[in-house]
Amino acid sequence: MDIKGKVIIVTGASSGIGEATARQFGREGAQVVLAARRVDRLESLAQEIAALNTSAETLVVQADLSRLQDIESLIRQTMDRFGRIDVLVNNAGFGRLNWLEKLDPVSDIQAQFDVNVMGVIQTTRQALPIMIEQRSGHIINMCSMAGLVATPTYTIYAACKHAVHGFSEALRREVKPWGIDVSMIYPGGVVTEFAGHAGIQRKTKATTPKALLLTADQVGEAVVKLVRRPRPMWIIPWAWTFTVWMNRNLNRLVDRTTIQRFTIPEREEELKAIDGRS
Ligand SMILES: NC(=O)c1ccc[n+]([C@@H]2O[C@H](COP(=O)([O-])OP(=O)(O)OC[C@H]3O[C@@H](n4cnc5c(N)ncnc54)[C@H](OP(=O)(O)O)[C@@H]3O)[C@@H](O)[C@H]2O)c1
Repeated sequence: MDIKGKVIIVTGASSGIGEATARQFGREGAQVVLAARRVDRLESLAQEIAALNTSAETLVVQADLSRLQDIESLIRQTMDRFGRIDVLVNNAGFGRLNWLEKLDPVSDIQAQFDVNVMGVIQTTRQALPIMIEQRSGHIINMCSMAGLVATPTYTIYAACKHAVHGFSEALRREVKPWGIDVSMIYPGGVVTEFAGHAGIQRKTKATTPKALLLTADQVGEAVVKLVRRPRPMWIIPWAWTFTVWMNRNLNRLVDRTTIQRFTIPEREEELKAIDGRS
């Protein structure tokens, strides 16, 4: 698929993966709709894209993806300006990572579901009738390794991404007869502002190995490749496929290792206080 001239909505385009993805679409000459809450960042990205490729066009839409009226307005403004939607990249999202009992019921738990799950579902629901009428379209959902393998402190984030996984799989099989593709991408750790919003300081060094860490540009490149060649599921980097296999087939071993190497060292002080461990 030639990306030049295609109408592509990128949610969460104000930073990280969404920003990098939108920039790459702009470089290829697409008509890119930039959506997020921080409109100043979207405006400067729009200017950058205009300088990268004069045939690219941008539309900046301030939208809080947890609000249905903002989602409706995003789709309406896109149609008013460009008259069609070729690709929808549901990328906006965040994680609040902590032990379940320490997460706030509203600002951590409900808010994650509102953006990471309901935002994806409602944006897709609003764009779908347009794609059905066009008899073409491509929905790309930003999942995560957490949508396949869940680790401690990721309870809610992982639940959200598992929900996106199930939603996307069912939708893919539902909309194909209309000529619409649904692709899912599952990055491991990516260097973005994500960790800064996650609200937790780790005690252990149990983080993504450096060799497996991705940049936002690398994920952006993968999304552009997906537009050219839709794929039901794409795990990046590929090495994580092994972890997914382990988690499916050797669940008890993964449990034991995770609890010993992550949960106990992270909670050592609390455990000591409770049962007097030395
Ligand atoms: N970083 C990782 O390791 C990693 C790995 C796998 C998957 N992911 C996924 O990749 C996606 C992008 O994350 P990132 O790593 O690029 O983090 P990021 O740099 O923090 O970007 C998150 C984006 O989501 C937007 N967003 C958050 N809440 C929103 C809301 N209520 N309404 C509209 N937009 C909202 C933010 O825009 P505003 O704040 O301006 O609204 C921002 O543009 C997320 O879905 C995340 O789950 C990240």
